[in-house]
Amino acid sequence: MGRRSGSAPSIRASRDGTLDAMVDHARDKPGSEMHEAALEIFEGLATSYERVLDVATLAQDRYWKRWVYENAEVKSGDLVLDVGCGTCLLEEQLDRCGCNLVGLDLTERMIRIGRSKEIPGVVGLVHGDAESLPFPDGIFDVVVSCYVPKYVDVTRFVKEASRVLKIGGRIALYDFVRPNGLLSPFLRLYIGGVLPIVGQLLEFTRSEASITFKNLPRIIDGTTWDKGIAEAFERESVRRRTFKALSRGVVGAYSGTKTDPRGR
Ligand SMILES: C[S@@+](CC[C@H](N)C(=O)[O-])C[C@H]1O[C@@H](n2cnc3c(N)ncnc32)[C@H](O)[C@@H]1O
Repeated sequence: MGRRSGSAPSIRASRDGTLDAMVDHARDKPGSEMHEAALEIFEGLATSYERVLDVATLAQDRYWKRWVYENAEVKSGDLVLDVGCGTCLLEEQLDRCGCNLVGLDLTERMIRIGRSKEIPGVVGLVHGDAESLPFPDGIFDVVVSCYVPKYVDVTRFVKEASRVLKIGGRIALYDFVRPNGLLSPFLRLYIGGVLPIVGQLLEFTRSEASITFKNLPRIIDGTTWDKGIAEAFERESVRRRTFKALSRGVVGAYSGTKTDPRGR
């Protein structure tokens, strides 16, 4: 689920060996192809990520992030985990809510940019994997996540997110889905036609963003994460609150509440 086989791009060797070690670690686990793809994309992209996001989402990202924290009902004093926090854009938007934010990401370069922003509400930024969260059970009031499900095994991801949530805690997330519905021919044209051309043009200018624009259509076209999430919520005692298509089906957005698995 949420995984593709045999099509992840190969990983480049890093000079200091850090990336190799992370990839070796990921190789031992299911979903490792997507770990490799995510690392290759985001280690290379980190400094231009925010500009790329604006283009790839046609500046819609801010609104999708607002959907996430409104549906997670983030309140002052909550301990909030952002899985795949990247450069901490969500943390910047949420900073004035009075909550305590912990970000986790697989890509060290993305975390370093987030850290350099020195966002006051951020109490921790951690290097780690969504499929194996380095936190004890039941400590977070809220788990949020933006654009991560397509890079992970969504069953493992929901299992881990549910494990670290308190009973009554909320989860909300979104990611690109394979377009379907009335506007899907146009969306497919944009994703499968326009974005790769942008990638090709950027390659001529040797821009680090070219790899994203070339790979993103392939990843979105192959993703099935949204097909398995309802079942994963149910299996992990997460009661569905909202399942919604945002921006005419470009993005799937889901929220739920962790219930007591013993039914109390
Ligand atoms: C498109 S970026 C989104 C960043 C941020 N959530 C945002 O909305 O701007 C996807 C992020 O997910 C991270 N990521 C991918 N796979 C991951 C995994 N298995 N565990 C943790 N983070 C992961 C990448 O490193 C990258 O920073």
